[in-house]
Amino acid sequence: MEQTLILAIESSCDETSAAIVKNGREVLSNIISSQIDIHKKFGGVVPEVASRNHVLNISTVVGEAMEEAGVSYDDLDAVAVTYGPGLIGALLVGVSYAKAVSSAKHLPLVAVNHIHGHIAANYITHPELEPPFVCLVASGGHSHILYVKDYAEFEILGRTRDDAAGEAFDKVARVIGLGYPGGPKIEALAKEGNPDAIRFPQVEFADTPYDFSFSGVKTSVINYLHTKEQKNEEFNRADLAASFQKAVVEALTRHTIRAAKDKGTDKVVLAGGVSANGALRASFEEATKKEGLGLFYPQPILCTDNAAMIGSAGFYKYLRKDFADSGLNAVANLKL
Ligand code: KG4
Ligand code: ZN
Repeated sequence: MEQTLILAIESSCDETSAAIVKNGREVLSNIISSQIDIHKKFGGVVPEVASRNHVLNISTVVGEAMEEAGVSYDDLDAVAVTYGPGLIGALLVGVSYAKAVSSAKHLPLVAVNHIHGHIAANYITHPELEPPFVCLVASGGHSHILYVKDYAEFEILGRTRDDAAGEAFDKVARVIGLGYPGGPKIEALAKEGNPDAIRFPQVEFADTPYDFSFSGVKTSVINYLHTKEQKNEEFNRADLAASFQKAVVEALTRHTIRAAKDKGTDKVVLAGGVSANGALRASFEEATKKEGLGLFYPQPILCTDNAAMIGSAGFYKYLRKDFADSGLNAVANLKL
């Protein structure tokens, strides 16, 4: 088989990442420079600070990815880059760098949608996985249920009406004093708590049965906390974390399984930062087993933002010769 080597770049939020991916499925290197320690003291990602750090990091990160993979620019077949959605200043750093490499080395440029990248993380972890399947994409900025018909064909079945699932984790973590990023911290605290201690609401929409809403559960957590504080009553933070997590996980599972059954697919795929959550994975393991469906999710490092997933999604665009030109711009609110 002919070998295709892609240099991939991701800089849509607070991770500067570069990877070398072979034939869309094999990761030769995947360097991720996280800015979590920088943004932690602000309680969340500060866009200007993120852009500045991408500028400082990008050439080192790309250099390390090339070195670790043992490749030179002459070995590459294309450059793939995330061009949206994300923070505009952050995206622009990656897009500009990729355009420069593409132009200087006469390599085709492939523009990748970040969400398509999250889905493609599964093609790396599961080399046998092929569309069609139903996919839950749950990250800090997005919560969608998609029908992935083919590598480039996506049908939106459901979406959040307000907060993304990861955003709800981050906000609840902030109000209970856990800090940023909230998801992993809530997950760790929830392990010590009782998920049935507090009942939080789960919203259903009669007309759009696959849609989510997470702002209600977030507000309920805040109200619960304020009531306890006003009454000067003790409460168990671990129970609160576990009960909140249960409400979110149950809604994500129920809606996705419903979509998979209605679509008649035999494969359910998880993607995005929230798919690193152990309680979510356990809930899907149980539900898919009960329904006789196959379940796929990426290895933890490929759940959150990374360039390898962009290299995989980019490979399938490369095969279709779907190239961008030097006029490529970043699109902060790029749609699916
Ligand atoms: O996919 P990602 O790295 O970035 C976006 O594209 O948004 O997702 C980051 C989100 C954050 O909201 C983070 O709190 C959440 O994913 N997350 C988790 C876990 N790890 C990351 N949420 C729940 N449990 C986790 N273990
Ligand atoms: Zn992401």
